Amino acid sequence: MSSRPQPVATAEAPRAAEEPRTATEGGVPTHVAIIMDGNGRWAASRRLPRIAGHREGARALRRTIEAAIRNRVAWLTIYAFSSENWRRPAAEVLDLTGLLRHYLRNEVAELRQNGVRLRFIGDRSRFDPDIQRDLVTAERDTATNGRLNLTVALSYGARAEILAAARHVAEAARAGRLDPAALDEATFEGFLSTAGIPDPDLILRTSGEQRLSNFLLWQAAYAELVFLDVLWPDFGEEHFAQALADYARRERRFGARPA
Ligand code: IPE
Ligand code: IPE
Ligand code: MG
Repeated sequence: MSSRPQPVATAEAPRAAEEPRTATEGGVPTHVAIIMDGNGRWAASRRLPRIAGHREGARALRRTIEAAIRNRVAWLTIYAFSSENWRRPAAEVLDLTGLLRHYLRNEVAELRQNGVRLRFIGDRSRFDPDIQRDLVTAERDTATNGRLNLTVALSYGARAEILAAARHVAEAARAGRLDPAALDEATFEGFLSTAGIPDPDLILRTSGEQRLSNFLLWQAAYAELVFLDVLWPDFGEEHFAQALADYARRERRFGARPA
């Protein structure tokens, strides 16, 4: 699905599926993933055009990145544009891609200075060539950073991601590079666009909707889910802290019996 080269089917990074997992208290999540929802409703409630909500949403994102750094969250993944969002009216899609272009040109330098490493997942081939170039540049220019790993899901859909991985597995098997009987979760994860990224511990969605909308379906297997009633443009440090506190109270069992 993405234009990035697919990794070979040898999982180098330790994969969550193979780690012995026992019941734990939440603590600070290593990886927080956010479905940033509610921009349109925020704008509508103010009788503003939807683009005003998306612009304000970009400000909320800035605050969230700072909050993640302050709270020592190592991995942050954000759902910025889904593969289904292309179905929106052309004018809104144009507004959203325009905002993405602006963000890439004007905000990446600061992220870089703040130690943020950027990655993009999703079908980037659907974006204009100048945006595709800026995505590559942003990843390259921040590749040595490690304070916060920020993954942006753009034109991303989990079913398409899983399907693409299955296709690569089938091709590898047909070419004799992979024994189907030896295919395990760790090997399969090596074909996903999130290869090398730990599974999200906490998935947070704003706006009151309680669904995943095709976000990280494989990776979310044991994520704790938090749904907040706040609209994304109003999201701030206090909501981030609230989600972390909620997470810290959860008992994660991974199918094992509680101690
Ligand atoms: C989230 O806000 C941003 C994107 C999906 C791009 P929405 O645009 O979905 O806002 P609502 O859900 O209509 O309020
Ligand atoms: C999910 O929100 C996608 C993003 C936040 C980018 P949507 O607003 O597109 O999801 P649905 O349509 O309400 O499920
Ligand atoms: Mg929405």
